[in-house]
Amino acid sequence: MKTRIKNILQEKPVGQPVSVAGWVRTKRDTGSFSFIEVNDGSCLANLQIIADEKLANYGAEIKQLSTGSSVMVEGDLKESPAKGQDVELHATRFRVIGKADPETYPLQKKRHSFEFLRELSHLRPRTNALGAVGRVRSRLSYAVHQFFHDRGFAQVHTPIITTSDCEGAGEMFQVSTGQEKTKTEHFFGRPAGLTVSGQLQAEVYAMALGDVYTFGPTFRAENSNTSRHLSEFWMLEPEMAFCDLQGNMEIAEEMLKYLLTDAMANCAEDMQLFDSFIEKGLLKKLQGVVEKEFAHITYTEAVERLKKADKKFEYPVEWGRDLQSEHERYLSEDVFRCPLIVTDYPASIKPFYMRVNDDNKTVAAMDVLVPGIGEIIGGSQREERLEVIEARMTEAGINLVDYNWYLDLRRYGSVPHAGFGLGFERLVQFVTGMANIREAIAFPRAPGSAPC
Ligand code: 4AD
Ligand code: MG
Repeated sequence: MKTRIKNILQEKPVGQPVSVAGWVRTKRDTGSFSFIEVNDGSCLANLQIIADEKLANYGAEIKQLSTGSSVMVEGDLKESPAKGQDVELHATRFRVIGKADPETYPLQKKRHSFEFLRELSHLRPRTNALGAVGRVRSRLSYAVHQFFHDRGFAQVHTPIITTSDCEGAGEMFQVSTGQEKTKTEHFFGRPAGLTVSGQLQAEVYAMALGDVYTFGPTFRAENSNTSRHLSEFWMLEPEMAFCDLQGNMEIAEEMLKYLLTDAMANCAEDMQLFDSFIEKGLLKKLQGVVEKEFAHITYTEAVERLKKADKKFEYPVEWGRDLQSEHERYLSEDVFRCPLIVTDYPASIKPFYMRVNDDNKTVAAMDVLVPGIGEIIGGSQREERLEVIEARMTEAGINLVDYNWYLDLRRYGSVPHAGFGLGFERLVQFVTGMANIREAIAFPRAPGSAPC
């Protein structure tokens, strides 16, 4: 039975036999001994293994071991005289499972750039930084489920293939077999695509189960090659019946704070690595976010602030134009220096499902902006009035017949409801301090790039 290195380093069962399995990070030979650092991915730290010539395969195998090889080691755990580690494993049996040719193994001991590592998405999780991102991402995903289950939300698995374009922005990848004989023949009887958001289907379940969330992959065929955009990303979308914009903002703030706190508490070692090597002061920044109330501003106020700014923006600021990431970052980094919720955007720049405000010009939208990233959450109160949403959809050129099911939610027992979408990779980026979103997902997909 193998023991995880994380448990060994935490529990330090000195004097007991243990067995570990992992990959060699480094090896150093001194006379009749070798010191071998093994990492099994359960934590950032390696376990030092001491192998000596008493082992039958010492000369033939162990001395030849190189970085990247996989091993299984049994031995006795002892206190270590070396600095920086409490325990070390004295091997009594050492099996080399899979060799890694040092001539061709691309991950050498030196530091590699993230750009270089992106070309090696199959090997990069074996580096300290990307391994740590993998663990933190997994923990955050777990914490998401915990947060919503603790609050009585039910998870809904919304479809990946859909015939509805939630955001109405025409950014859907089309799904076809490639074998259709005519242009009008469709596998599903009508054009279908990969979902841009699970919201519309989540609304169905909110109208039955009350509070729900969906958390899955979403896809956008937009040609954005930026450090914050992916073609495939994960979105977390809660949807709450009998909830307004205020309730929506409260749950978003509580959730973000919960997730940051959870990552800092449960991924302390990995978070320390990010704080030291990826973004200096990261932990202080995150702690500050947890402790402070989020700022609030309406879109109209935001536009006024931006117009008065002593900064030159690339994109013009004008009421009715969408905020660009440079504007969002200026507001959260320079003006408020904390997360900021911008509400009540012009109806003309937001999707049909957002609830129209009494001024008839703006909608009950909310974007949560955080320093360094800009928009991390987008959401709204939904338009629950049948005539209003029909008018909005018609105006947007949407065929009402296709969305009859969605309109039924407004015909039968309609209620005020609200929800939002958290870009999960943007969250991972924010928590780890990674400059590029392509480091926040295991296998990034972006225009021109989907290596495996
Ligand atoms: O603001 P968006 O487009 O909102 C929706 O899709 C709503 N239907 C969500 C809802 O109300 N249930 O996207 C939500 C979030 C953004 O704030 C951003 O964090 C992330 O998803 N996002 C992306 N992340 C990575 N790459 C992209 N191309 C993204 N587009 C949006
Ligand atoms: Mg948005």
